[in-house]
Amino acid sequence: MKLSHYCREFLKCVVLPVGLAASALLAGCGGGGEESASSAEQTGLSGKKIGFAQTGAESVWRTAHTDSIKSEAEKRGVDLKFSSGEGKQENQIRAVRSFIAQGVDLIMIAPIVETGWDPVLKEAKRARIPVVLLDRRVDTTDTSLFETFLGSDFVEEGRLAGQWMVDNVKGDAVKIVEMQGTPGSAPAIDRQKGFVEVVNANSRFQIIESQSANFRRADGKDLMESLLKKHKDIDVLYAHNDDMAFGAIQAIEAAGLKPGEDIVIISVDAIKEAFSMIIAGKINCTVECSPLLGPLAFDVAEKILAGEEVERKIVMKDEVFDATNAAANIDSRMY
Ligand code: AHR
Repeated sequence: MKLSHYCREFLKCVVLPVGLAASALLAGCGGGGEESASSAEQTGLSGKKIGFAQTGAESVWRTAHTDSIKSEAEKRGVDLKFSSGEGKQENQIRAVRSFIAQGVDLIMIAPIVETGWDPVLKEAKRARIPVVLLDRRVDTTDTSLFETFLGSDFVEEGRLAGQWMVDNVKGDAVKIVEMQGTPGSAPAIDRQKGFVEVVNANSRFQIIESQSANFRRADGKDLMESLLKKHKDIDVLYAHNDDMAFGAIQAIEAAGLKPGEDIVIISVDAIKEAFSMIIAGKINCTVECSPLLGPLAFDVAEKILAGEEVERKIVMKDEVFDATNAAANIDSRMY
């Protein structure tokens, strides 16, 4: 269940109540605090300027992620500078430079792709502005360029998807098509890595095609249409997110096939709509990736601004949903 899962992560990874109260006090002494908040947790970041460079709005997951950050910032009285990269790294880099010029207290980035971040992260470091990586990691050898990473283990998500397939799909020559996320992004690279690891260890399975549909529903539909024309014998679709799977389902149905039966569908994210699709028999399995990072992200920001040590990596625990547990969990799904 989401609530108990969150509480577990909160207790395990982020703050002890004593530390939180202390950091709130310290940050309060350092300035800011235009309004008095009702609890110690809410005063620590009051009036602090925090920049957030988001990837864009490519999926339902992403919108839930944005909402989580924005609503938590508002709750804590943070002066949030939000920028959507609209799918382009150069927009995100420009946004980070603008945050630096505005003298924000801390920068959060959900990096669209893994590489190419060192120069702008060095600029933030020179300006003594701490950086928190949200959801996606960056590829750098200089780990002093960011304070911490907070998000899911995408390699493990790929493994969970692969293992579900091995445990549930019968046959000696199972043909898989893989729909990748944004090329060069951490989730596309890692979800492939974890999945391929499992496939390579099981000779019954073979990936016959692997292409990107950019985490987008419309692209998922287009890609599936062309894959169905090219291959008459697809057994499994592994999509790196639910949105692409939904687009693919439209194409599968338009081709006169039954998603979930003629083609087994496995995806990642576990948004509420995917639960409905599982209950309708059109998706077989979805691996969770929680977008609700706002509360943890601002707890971490508060600690950093109070001069406290934070974990270098804070990893969310993801669960697997299929026909055995989707109905029991759909009502509690918040996104
Ligand atoms: O980085 C997380 C991924 O990005 C989600 O799986 C996807 O839906 C999103 O766009």
